[in-house]
Amino acid sequence: MYKIIKILIVITLLLGSAITYINPIASAEEDSNWNKIKQRGELRVGLSADYAPLEFEKIKNGKTDYAGVDIELAKKIAKDNHLKLKIINMQFDSLLGALKTGKIDVIISGMTTTPERKKEVDFTEPYMMTNNVMLVKKSDKNKYKDLKDFTGKKIAAQKGTDQEKIAHNEIKDSQVSSLNRLPESILALKSGKVVGTIVEKPVGEAYLKQNPELEFADVKFNEEKKPTCIAVPKNSPISLKHLNQTIDEVNNKNLIDKYMNQAAQDMQDDGNFFTKYGSFFIKGIKNTILISLVGVILGSILGAFIALLKINKFKPLSWLASIYIEFLRGTPMLVQVFIVFFGTTAALGLDVSALICGTIALIINSSAYIAEIIRAGINAVDKGQMEAARSLGLNYIQTMKSVIMPQAIKNILPALGNEFVTLIKESSIVSTIGVGEIMFNAQVVQGISFDPFTPLIVAAVLYFILTFALSRIMSLVEGRMKASD
Ligand code: ARG
Repeated sequence: MYKIIKILIVITLLLGSAITYINPIASAEEDSNWNKIKQRGELRVGLSADYAPLEFEKIKNGKTDYAGVDIELAKKIAKDNHLKLKIINMQFDSLLGALKTGKIDVIISGMTTTPERKKEVDFTEPYMMTNNVMLVKKSDKNKYKDLKDFTGKKIAAQKGTDQEKIAHNEIKDSQVSSLNRLPESILALKSGKVVGTIVEKPVGEAYLKQNPELEFADVKFNEEKKPTCIAVPKNSPISLKHLNQTIDEVNNKNLIDKYMNQAAQDMQDDGNFFTKYGSFFIKGIKNTILISLVGVILGSILGAFIALLKINKFKPLSWLASIYIEFLRGTPMLVQVFIVFFGTTAALGLDVSALICGTIALIINSSAYIAEIIRAGINAVDKGQMEAARSLGLNYIQTMKSVIMPQAIKNILPALGNEFVTLIKESSIVSTIGVGEIMFNAQVVQGISFDPFTPLIVAAVLYFILTFALSRIMSLVEGRMKASD
């Protein structure tokens, strides 16, 4: 019996190596990337949806949806391979990292093949060829007739892109502003922070349509057209084969032209700024109010607890509370937000949504400030009150509850109102981790509207209305309390 098994094993091994010898592809055809996609039944496409007409967000029946050439291509790939499609929208410069760590399966984000990127990932056949142009202000067009005219000037480009590299390499002594999202580099140009922004031609054309004050400068970059491809992890021959099959068909049937037309339609304007984007801001307002309200309420409960620890006679507890307060007040909120966001997955292995992480960070941060507010409020009550109440026979808890606290509340409430106002403004920081509050939605609208400025003004006005209304309400309440004295 044993012998038979042994012989069988030897035969299979021999056969196996014979086959690999004859057909080296056979062993190379291992593709764990493709296996995982197939098992999941879902293709996770990473992209940066700030890049019309290739990928952007459009509004259909008040809902956002992804649109653009890359989205159509992704849909076709999914359909051809009987897979569901999941779009994962992130910053362009995090895409390669996400692909290498397996957070996404492929990158379809208008990505140009470059020698540096080829070291990290593999690319399919090209589905598009593009060249670069320099956007300038129309009024400046005559000043810039040659790349040399940009020598020593400030140029913007999207971070991590080929355009950023070109700005460094092809313009002498250039000062490059690398901005996370493309709309930001257009805003830099419009507001005069830079004199030019390098973009790919189809994208530049989309922006020209919406921004009549911009124009292409009459300059030529060194390289002519470069290939745009899909990126896959290294050693993914089967993924490449399937992707290339679809790309071949797309190229043969000129489908990209069709996708471009579709994208142009999806970019069509109808209605004014508010009918089109109002829903984003309303969603933003709701979330901003939600997270800051939960932030102050739970922050107050936690803060009251910390304050009680701090005024505790038992020193170690009081020190602990002091450390908590000092640490939270002495570190930037942005850092705290990131620690909660990445800490929950990296350190605790939990998959917590950005909204919850953002709210937790706000609660923790505000609890430190509120603890101090409460402590100061209690301390402000005259010491004699405690002594008097105690000598009348009330115990500590009774004294706190019916003598000290009612007076302390009058000091605490107004300060708590201020903290709420602060929190509404500070909550904009959680937009960085993708919580859909006002600032986040303003950035989304920047991307879809090709108007980098108006959404910021709208956001500012909204924050102001919220905080102003709140402080009016607070002074009303304060007036009432004074009257009741
Ligand atoms: N083609 C350029 C590159 O690969 C820019 C692509 C930017 N894509 C985007 N979705 N923002 O570097």
